[in-house]
Amino acid sequence: MILLEKLGQQLGHPTRSVYGWLITKFLKYHNKMLEESAVSLSGIQPGDTVLELIGVDYSKYMHKMAGDLLKELVSNGKVSLYQCDVAAMPLADNMVDKVFHCNCYYYWPDLRKGAAEIHRVMKPGEGRVVSFASRREFPGRSWQPEAYMAALRASGFNQVTMEDHQHRHITCQAIYATADK
Ligand SMILES: C[S@@+](CC[C@H](N)C(=O)[O-])C[C@H]1O[C@@H](n2cnc3c(N)ncnc32)[C@H](O)[C@@H]1O
Repeated sequence: MILLEKLGQQLGHPTRSVYGWLITKFLKYHNKMLEESAVSLSGIQPGDTVLELIGVDYSKYMHKMAGDLLKELVSNGKVSLYQCDVAAMPLADNMVDKVFHCNCYYYWPDLRKGAAEIHRVMKPGEGRVVSFASRREFPGRSWQPEAYMAALRASGFNQVTMEDHQHRHITCQAIYATADK
């Protein structure tokens, strides 16, 4: 149980440690399918600015790991990475076409602030958010899709819907939201 609690904490904010290292192995294996599904459901078009190609994570450890992994894409300007809170991103208003995130919102300390900040950076028009989540697996996570959907609506998103996706033995929930401004 203590091990699961430690791993659960690390999922929400990985640090350079044995537990953090274990979590990165888990994420690489388990979340690959989630990330690929989120990308395909986002309907990304050539030329779109996508939050993830602008990568945001407040964990120093994950930020460094992503930087190492994507060194070439970062150095040729195709990917930008920021170590910051999703609720305070160093991005201009109205600059992002699509946002996707996997297994993330339930770690945010304030869903409303996170959703409002995402709304702020999205371009006016039909900007779309896709949030992909697998069910609760570790203690300490508050997997509350309805609360996140409510935060998205309160932040100005509309057409906020959720649907189940089955990938082999894993059931995931995709939340969609449109940022008409
Ligand atoms: C379970 S991991 C998922 C990572 C990745 N999407 C994947 O599927 O492998 C959750 C990540 O969200 C980050 N995170 C949690 N709360 C955050 C916040 N408020 N702002 C920025 N990053 C946050 C954590 O540091 C962690 O790296």
